[in-house]
Amino acid sequence: MPKVFHIALMPGEGIGVEVLDAAKAVLDAVEIRYGIRFRSETIPGGAHYYKEHGTPLPKDGIDRAAAADAILFGAMGWPDIRYPDGTEIAPQLDLRLQLDLYAGVRPIRMIPGVPRVLTNPRAANLDFVIIRESTEGMFASRGKGEIIDDQEARDTQVITRRSTERLTNFSCILARRRRATRGTPGRVTLVDKSNVFRSFAFMRKVFYEVAAAHPDVDACHHYIDAMALDLVRRPWDFDVLPTENLFGDILSDLGAGLIGGMGFAPSADIGDEHGVFQPSHGSAPDIAGKGIANPTAMILSAAMMLEWLGERHQTDLLLMAARAIERSVDMAFGSRKIRSHDIGGLDGTTAIGRTIAEVIRSGEADLA
Ligand code: NAI
Ligand code: MG
Repeated sequence: MPKVFHIALMPGEGIGVEVLDAAKAVLDAVEIRYGIRFRSETIPGGAHYYKEHGTPLPKDGIDRAAAADAILFGAMGWPDIRYPDGTEIAPQLDLRLQLDLYAGVRPIRMIPGVPRVLTNPRAANLDFVIIRESTEGMFASRGKGEIIDDQEARDTQVITRRSTERLTNFSCILARRRRATRGTPGRVTLVDKSNVFRSFAFMRKVFYEVAAAHPDVDACHHYIDAMALDLVRRPWDFDVLPTENLFGDILSDLGAGLIGGMGFAPSADIGDEHGVFQPSHGSAPDIAGKGIANPTAMILSAAMMLEWLGERHQTDLLLMAARAIERSVDMAFGSRKIRSHDIGGLDGTTAIGRTIAEVIRSGEADLA
């Protein structure tokens, strides 16, 4: 009996629900084309769920999600719904902590046919990955910051040896695999602010200690401010970019801007036991309910899920299917000339999902 992969679906709210529907159409096509079987289970949650039930997720929500082989997540949070302290409902942050998802993998890859943001021709082949440490850094202070006498506010950053070690190992292994499968240079560049802060100087020291065990990987560093500049000036020079949580949060939006916007930026939150796959964007209240959200980021996140499952379970069909989704996205925007609303086109969420699913079913993506 071939394994049936158990997928927890957490659509959330706003366009999270819409783009996850489009991704489901693509996974249906994968089942048909590759004979892979998925069993899905939907887990509600988010700001609207909190408003109704007083908790962001059902009581057993995280346990149910953790029991699945992988978690496919839309988006949660709504600006008008907040905790009494003024912060937003963000179960995706709770999941990262509770499932120990330390590596936030955010690939920035230019898709053929999508209008280039940078005029330099080299931008047509952009392909780098930000690895956002996702369990500590500035976010260690979430829910713990203090306000003193309404005069002063403090949030404290935490960087540990353990997290830096595993972030570095993860990044070096990824750089090596990308070199083998994509011909990228196998370079890891730590992004920090070690010229000013002890925590970052410590992070850089541990980074180089660990990187020394990966002599085939080129290890370097860059300051965050210089990186903001160079990701606009010469982003093609970078490969794998591990960084602190808040820096990664900001840089990944900058990266998304380079490839056409949030609608094209997938992500995976990976730990040693669990993986949550979700677009980098949020619930986008400004366009929710209109059917115009770009589902590409969500669909590419589903491809990352299949790749991760394929490696974990040593199932070549899943690896093939992951590559096929990526190529189908390229063909949909390339030869089939799909144009989503966020890049000035007229194709809606459902139509884009359907086109990508069609390319997969046709087998064209296997030949490309
Ligand atoms: P957002 O990512 O939802 O939207 C930012 C801008 O990008 C908006 O103009 C939106 O229309 C556009 N956009 C985003 N995704 C798009 C797509 N697929 N297609 C076309 N356009 C797209 O970020 P925002 O507005 O800061 O946050 C909205 C809510 O989402 C907030 O409550 C926030 O906390 C939450 N959020 C949740 C995340 C998650 O679940 N992982 C991540 C980021 C924000
Ligand atoms: Mg963000």
